[in-house]
Amino acid sequence: MPDDTFVTRLNEQIGNEFAAHQQYVAIAVHYDAETLPQLARFFYRQALEERDHAMMMVQYLIDADADVVIPGVSAPQTAFGDIVEPVALALAQEKRVTEQINGLAAAARDAGDYTSEQFMQWFIKEQVEEVATMSDLLRVVERSKDDPMEIENFMAREHPGDEGEDPTAPHPAGSSA
Ligand SMILES: [Fe+2]
Ligand SMILES: [Fe+2]
Repeated sequence: MPDDTFVTRLNEQIGNEFAAHQQYVAIAVHYDAETLPQLARFFYRQALEERDHAMMMVQYLIDADADVVIPGVSAPQTAFGDIVEPVALALAQEKRVTEQINGLAAAARDAGDYTSEQFMQWFIKEQVEEVATMSDLLRVVERSKDDPMEIENFMAREHPGDEGEDPTAPHPAGSSA
C-alpha cells in the first residue's frame, strides 16, 4: 500500500491536473475565438495532456488499491488582456505544478514509499519539458506580440502536431492504449 499522506496529496494533485486541463481549455477557446488556430490547437492538445496526467494518477491509485477521490476544480481564468497573458499564465502554472510534483516525490521518499517515489519520476521529467516549452513560447509571443501571424507560423512550424507516443509514460485510466 502507498503511504497515506502520499495518497492524500496525490488525490489533491489529481485536482491540480484537472484544473490545469480546464485552464488550457479556456486558453485554447480564447485563442480560437481570436482566430489564432495554431495557438488554439497547441493549447487544446496541452489540455488533453493534463487530463492524461490526472488519469495516470487515478490508474496508479487504483492499481495500488488506494482510495481515489475525484475532486471538483475552481474556475479557470477565461478573459485575457493580450496575446501574451495566457502564455505567461501557462508558464506560471507549469512552474507551480513542478513544485507540486517535486513535493510529492519528496513526500513519498520521506515516508519510505519508494514505489510511489518511482511513480513520480516520469512526471518530474515531463515537467522539465513542459516548463521549457512554455518558456520558449513566452519568449516567442513577447517578441512577436504585434505580429500574431508570425506566432502562428512559429506554432505551425515548431509544434505541428502530436509529439508521438512516449513508451515510458504511465497508463492513463480508461485509455485503450
Ligand atoms: Fe500535468
Ligand atoms: Fe503541464
